[in-house]
Amino acid sequence: MPTEPTIPDTAALTGPPTTTEADALVVGLHPAESEGGSAAPLLAPGAAEVDAAFGGELAELLRVVGATGKIEQVVSLPTRGALAAPRLVAVGLGKATDGAEGAELVRRAAGAASRALAGTSSAISTLSAVDPEAAVLGALLGGYRFDVHRSSSEDAAAPVASWTFTGTDDDGVRRATLVAEAVATARNLVNTAPNVLVPETFAARAVALGEQAGLVTEVLDDDRLRENGYGGITGVGQGSTNKPRLVRLTWNGGTAPAKRVALVGKGITFDTGGISLKPNAGMADMTSDMGGAAAVVAAVVLAAKLELPVAVTATVPMAENMPSSTAYKPGDVLTMYGGRTVEVLNTDAEGRLILADAIVRAGEDAPDYLVETSTLTGAQQVALGLRTAGVMGSDELRDRVAGHGVATGEDAWAMPLPEYLRSDLDSRVADIANVSGQRFAGMLLAGTFLKEFVPDGLPWAHIDIAGPSYNTGGARGYTTKGGTGTPVRTLVAFLEDVAANG
Ligand code: BES
Ligand code: MN
Ligand code: ZN
Repeated sequence: MPTEPTIPDTAALTGPPTTTEADALVVGLHPAESEGGSAAPLLAPGAAEVDAAFGGELAELLRVVGATGKIEQVVSLPTRGALAAPRLVAVGLGKATDGAEGAELVRRAAGAASRALAGTSSAISTLSAVDPEAAVLGALLGGYRFDVHRSSSEDAAAPVASWTFTGTDDDGVRRATLVAEAVATARNLVNTAPNVLVPETFAARAVALGEQAGLVTEVLDDDRLRENGYGGITGVGQGSTNKPRLVRLTWNGGTAPAKRVALVGKGITFDTGGISLKPNAGMADMTSDMGGAAAVVAAVVLAAKLELPVAVTATVPMAENMPSSTAYKPGDVLTMYGGRTVEVLNTDAEGRLILADAIVRAGEDAPDYLVETSTLTGAQQVALGLRTAGVMGSDELRDRVAGHGVATGEDAWAMPLPEYLRSDLDSRVADIANVSGQRFAGMLLAGTFLKEFVPDGLPWAHIDIAGPSYNTGGARGYTTKGGTGTPVRTLVAFLEDVAANG
């Protein structure tokens, strides 16, 4: 049986790219500046030595075989002894751009080249001469493949097992490799089938990952959750024989952490909708309803591996939302952790219920910031599409987190939580209802519900990743099918920002 994918070996290239043995060498191309379209593409920085080995004719040779420099276009040439590597792969980077946009183009191109190189065992990338971190991340994430549930993976072409990068040093490669590993961890958890990844096994895997990284771990099982009044988690989980859990993973931030960050992630291992059952179409995608949980687990583990000087605790509620004779139902009133009551009007709005408990618990640690992420609403997809996360919360932290979403290329956009929405959640019998009677602003209403449970004065952000955390389309750039790992990179960028700037 195939096992979990392993991260390829990565290192900075020490020798010259032209004479170093490898199965393939990757160069980048930009489109020609002239309009016409018949001119040869422009070689990206990093390709000069390689071009010299081709007598200065590399761009022209690539033009002949149709290379244009268009983003993600991949063209291969046999090198016929010009290089030690027998195959040259040229990938389009699009128009040369700097900043966050340019880095994202490098990631996408590196990912496309990596996918095209499946079946090759070793490769040299010169895209790292343009942007080292982006080249490493793109190569490793584009090469990601998940075969755990296949009886054999022998027939499919294996990803590149060994990458070397020009124009960088081992430190730069190491950091990007650790980030790629964290993204792959989140993808693995999301891609694990929902009969295999149930709350109990998810909790065990989170703890194992935490222990390997030296984190302090804690698991509350169903009995402990009931004893301690976690009515949201136990209410949602009571319809399933797979009992809920609450996992807490803490990185202490080393000797002098400046700030404490609470992370919270939605861990619904499968969302049928419960008694408010979802329609058949697309229900299988609800295996991804723990994408937020996967991301915060991966992020706190990475914070420890990077030894970031910031204390981080991930508080992760895990439950399976099923219909049964023991399931919670519309009309039920749940008493949440901390004592507030919620009237359940729709059992498919379950994420906010388990998150409410987790947010209250996370708030007890007196964090400086709270960042929560969840596959919370279909309305996020309607409002922002499948690739842009919606970020809500207190104004400053919301904008800061959304900024990291844009900067990392995961993409995110700030959304408001207008005060007037709160009365739409007024309940006939309880402190608040879990849904409103109207169909507008579904993403913002979910955020408004969560806000009720955030301690007064605590800066917080909620990242709705219903669309971006799971790719139901084909592979593109460095984004493979299924779990994407979003928003691991946004969370880590935020933690690094807090470590550096408070
Ligand atoms: N897990 C879903 C949200 C979701 C939808 C995630 C599509 C990914 C893709 C969530 O639990 C849910 O069912 N939300 C409801 C809320 C509604 C009942 C207010 C929704 O969006 O329809
Ligand atoms: Mn639901
Ligand atoms: Zn859900």
